Order: sequence, then structure tokens, then C-alpha cells
Amino acid sequence: MKAICIALLAAAAQLANCQLNAPASQDTAWNSTFTLSAAQKQLGQLSDELASQIETVYRWDQTQLANGGTTQDEFYNLLVGSMNAHPTKPGEILKVEDITDITPFNLPAEVSMSRIIYTSVNLNGTLVPASGYILWPYAAKQIRSRLNWSTTAQAPSVVWNHGTSGWFADGAPSTHRSLFYGDHMPFALAQAGYAVIAPDYAGLGVNASWDGTFVPHQYLAREASAKDSLNMIRAVRSAFPCRITSDYVVVGHSQGGAVSWGVSEVLAQDRSEFLDVYSGHLGTLMFAPAVDSILTHESLFYPLLSRFMKGIFPTFNPSDWLTPLGIARAQLVSDLQAAQFVVEYAVATVPGILVDNPDSTYYGPAYAALADPGNRPYKGPMLLIQGSADPVVSPNATLDTFESTCHKFGGNFEYMSVPGAGHFPGMDATRHLWLSWIEDRFNGHPVQIGCQSSTVESLLPFNRYKNLTSSFLDWSGAPQWYYHLPDRA
Ligand SMILES: *[C@@H]1O[C@H](CO)[C@@H](O)[C@H](O)[C@H]1NC(C)=O
Ligand SMILES: *[C@@H]1O[C@H](CO)[C@@H](O)[C@H](O)[C@H]1NC(C)=O
Ligand SMILES: *[C@@H]1O[C@H](CO)[C@@H](O)[C@H](O)[C@H]1NC(C)=O
Ligand SMILES: *[C@@H]1O[C@H](CO)[C@@H](O)[C@H](O)[C@H]1NC(C)=O
Ligand SMILES: *[C@@H]1O[C@H](CO)[C@@H](O)[C@H](O)[C@H]1NC(C)=O
Ligand SMILES: *[C@@H]1O[C@H](CO)[C@@H](O)[C@H](O)[C@H]1NC(C)=O
Repeated sequence: MKAICIALLAAAAQLANCQLNAPASQDTAWNSTFTLSAAQKQLGQLSDELASQIETVYRWDQTQLANGGTTQDEFYNLLVGSMNAHPTKPGEILKVEDITDITPFNLPAEVSMSRIIYTSVNLNGTLVPASGYILWPYAAKQIRSRLNWSTTAQAPSVVWNHGTSGWFADGAPSTHRSLFYGDHMPFALAQAGYAVIAPDYAGLGVNASWDGTFVPHQYLAREASAKDSLNMIRAVRSAFPCRITSDYVVVGHSQGGAVSWGVSEVLAQDRSEFLDVYSGHLGTLMFAPAVDSILTHESLFYPLLSRFMKGIFPTFNPSDWLTPLGIARAQLVSDLQAAQFVVEYAVATVPGILVDNPDSTYYGPAYAALADPGNRPYKGPMLLIQGSADPVVSPNATLDTFESTCHKFGGNFEYMSVPGAGHFPGMDATRHLWLSWIEDRFNGHPVQIGCQSSTVESLLPFNRYKNLTSSFLDWSGAPQWYYHLPDRA
């Protein structure tokens, strides 16, 4: 023991004494005792084996939620502490939590977080509440070209549009201990000195409006989520007027890549709707944007989309897409507010969920037309970074959409291929490249005129690199788990 104390003291002068807590082992489902009820098993026609698999995944998901997620965290309840019970326009602040207690989160040291709820609009223009977080850097990045830069008080802002994190309230990154994307993006941006403005997208986080009406997450509806991003900028400006720059770069991955492309399209299509944030837009950076997701992942998405399609296409009926088993499973995952892997076990990999030829009705292609970005005017510059080995978003599809968009509309648009990289690793492999791209936008460096594609050259042959991570962030904040954290001083 003495030797350990000396080592600790040498490593960390703050340790005043060596009263250690008794170490305890930790499992990955320590915060959940969830079991499926008999009624849920019956509803989903779940075998004992499948029910047990779903429970394992679900307990892990619940354990990832800070403060017990949106059901238990009062922040997401608009009936408690809302500043504005009768909002009238998009971008209004409903709630501000300036200092989020980050004890239950897995954030790196020396960042600070706020959360807000604000108004946005859904696809048909109805005013809805939406939540999001802001991650604050310790020291704001100084933009060298700005001679009269008003110093340390303002951080340059990056809007971060996340990829698929879920379909229900608890899918909100702002309630996830690691903000769902952890080191891939929000931590990396904050540590590079940017204020990270991160919308959850309407329906994720807050699912009940100020009048109690249900707010579905209109998953993949590019334009609705793009407006959630733009309205969040407005809301953050009014909540923290002196802390962020009025110009910003938009970044997104996968679903959020499409949302980010959507931001550029919304800005180009009607300047007047977002005049107050139009000129602040310095550029859009997309990783593997979902350009054709709905029709390529029908078995995953149709059961989820079927829950809210009637609000968009009043004649839609879930049986247009789903068998009775499919309808029951869609109901089950909705009752459970299930996240990605529960949905994969319960729905996406199961035969007999979709009717034969679900696209004999027009809803799938019609929704895809609403969802998919590209082939429209856009406000550049834009950079699209795509792993060539991405198994989720096809590199061919993003390349095609890039080329046809460029062909029709020209503009400043670059396609950067990352040989051998998958869906998430495309972000990791190129971090210093895109951080420079963002910095260049704030510095006002001109972008080459026109469309061009490029390929990142890896230092070593690309097949020498590890193509997927095999670790994850786990919360170890309890005293008995201190020994997980060698860097705790
Ligand atoms: C999970 O942990 C949070 C603290 O982060 C706690 O508030 C919540 O009640 C816990 N949830 C469950 C299901 O135990
Ligand atoms: C809204 O979300 C809560 C969890 O925050 C959940 O308990 C509730 O069932 C959801 N409502 C609907 C209508 O899905
Ligand atoms: C410099 O300051 C002036 C006056 O406050 C302002 O109008 C201008 O936009 C600033 N320039 C930059 C590059 O921030
Ligand atoms: C707008 O969308 C909401 C939610 O999907 C739906 O309930 C409402 O009926 C729609 N309103 C119109 C006018 O289409
Ligand atoms: C992508 O395009 C290449 C070249 O056109 C072709 O060989 C390949 O089969 C395509 N892959 C997919 C998944 O469509
Ligand atoms: C990653 O590498 C493994 C082992 O080399 C290989 O089996 C797998 O197909 C690769 N996955 C991707 C997405 O490239």
C-alpha cells in the first residue's frame, strides 16, 4: 500500500491522503434493471431468446442516459420552468440551462455544457419545441485574421448535426452521457476551441409540446431538421448573445450530413426566411451524408417511419408497408422508445416485417423525395468527406449526387474520398484536414471556384490501419470505480 501511495503522490500532488475507496467491479448495465413485461413479449411475439437479447441491449442503452434520460430529467418537461408558454415564432427560447451539471456525463475535463429548449418548425410549418446542447471550449479559438477580434469572450461557433441516434425522446444526444458522438466530433471541436451548437432535432428530447400535443421526430426529413439547426443558432444567439460569433460553420454526419446539406439548401432557396442567420453561414462540411437512405434501408426505416407518416401523408396506413407482425413490432419499439440496436434485433433483421413490394404505394419514394438532399441550389462552400469502404452510406450514391448537383448548379463543392475508411472512421481519419477547413472558413480564405473531387493520401497503405474502433466511453464517476480513471487528478 505504501508504495502505491507514493506513486499516487508523485503522480498527483492533490491527493492529500491515501484513503482509497473499496474498488468494485462495474458492468455495462449498472443503471438499469429493465425487463420486458409479459404483455410486451406477447405484443412483439418475442421468443424467450429474442426477449433476453433485447433486454441486454436495452439495459445498456438505459445506462447511457444521464439523469435517467428524458423521462426522469425535468429539463425536457416543458410544463416545468418554461420561460414562454405561448411562443409565436421559430427560434424563440423556451428554457435555458446555462450550466448543465455534467457529473453524470462522460465529458472530457475542462469543457462546459449548456442545454436549451427553443421553438422550431416541422415539415408543414407547425411550431414545435426542440432541444439541444452547447459545448463550450475552455479557451476560445483565436482567429488570427481578425485583427480586432474581441478576444477571449467569444468562441467561433460550429453547428453540429448528429447522425442517427434514435427515433424517440431518449434518442436525444443532449441526454446521452457521451453526447452520442463523443470524441468523433463534439469533444474534438470543443477541444479545438469552438463552441459546439448541437441540435437534438425536434421529437428527440422533447416529445410533448407546450400544449401537450405529441411531437414526433420526423426522421430524415432533411428540411425540418435543417430548420431545427438554423433556429437553434437564433436561440443560442439570444440566450448567450456575447459568447459566440455570429458567423458559423455547419458540420454533420450521416443523417446529420443530409441535414447539413439541407441547411445549405434552405439558405439558398429562400433567403428571407433566415435572413438573420444567412450571412453568418461560412460553409458546410458533410461526412457520409444520407442521400438515398430510405429506399436502401427499407427494412430498418419503414417500421419507424410508419409511426408518423400519417401526419405527413394523411391517406397513409401502416399496412401499406408492414405485415401484422411488422405493425406489432413497430408498436413495441415505439412503446419501448427503443434505440438503434434494439430496433435492429426486433425489426430490421427479422423476416416477415414488410409486405411484399412496399413501394407499390407511392409513400416511400414520396418521402424519400422530401428527405434526400442534393440536386437543388445550395449555399456553399461545401465539403463532402466520404469513406470509400462505408457500408452504410454508399460512396457511389454520394458521388453521384455530388456530380449531378455540380453539373446542374455549379458552385463551390468539394468531394473528398477517404480510401478504406468506413462510416464513422471517415471522420477520425481526416480530423486535422477538416479542422483546417473549418479554420479557413473563419479566416475568410477563399475556396477554389467550382466543383472538384480529391482523394486523401494515407501515409501508409490504407489496409495497414485499424478500420473500426473496439472501445467505448463508459461512465466511471462513482467513488468505487475510481481505479478506472488513472487521469482523475
Ligand atoms: C440512472 O442514473 C441517473 C444518474 O445519472 C439516475 O438519475 C437515474 O435514476 C438512473 N436510472 C435508473 C433506471 O436507475
Ligand atoms: C414521450 O417520451 C417519454 C419519455 O420521455 C415517453 O415516456 C412517452 O411515452 C413519449 N410519448 C409518446 C407519445 O411517445
Ligand atoms: C472589426 O470591428 C468593427 C467595429 O466594431 C466591425 O464592424 C468589424 O466587423 C470587425 N471586423 C472583424 C473582421 O471582425
Ligand atoms: C402538420 O403536422 C402535424 C404533425 O405531423 C399534424 O398533426 C398536422 O395535422 C399537420 N397540419 C397540417 C395543416 O397539415
Ligand atoms: C460503385 O461504382 C463502381 C464503379 O462505377 C462499381 O464498380 C461498383 O459496383 C459500384 N458499387 C455499388 C455498391 O454500387
Ligand atoms: C475491417 O477490417 C477487417 C479485418 O481486416 C475486415 O474483415 C473488415 O471487412 C473491414 N471492414 C471494413 C468496413 O472495411
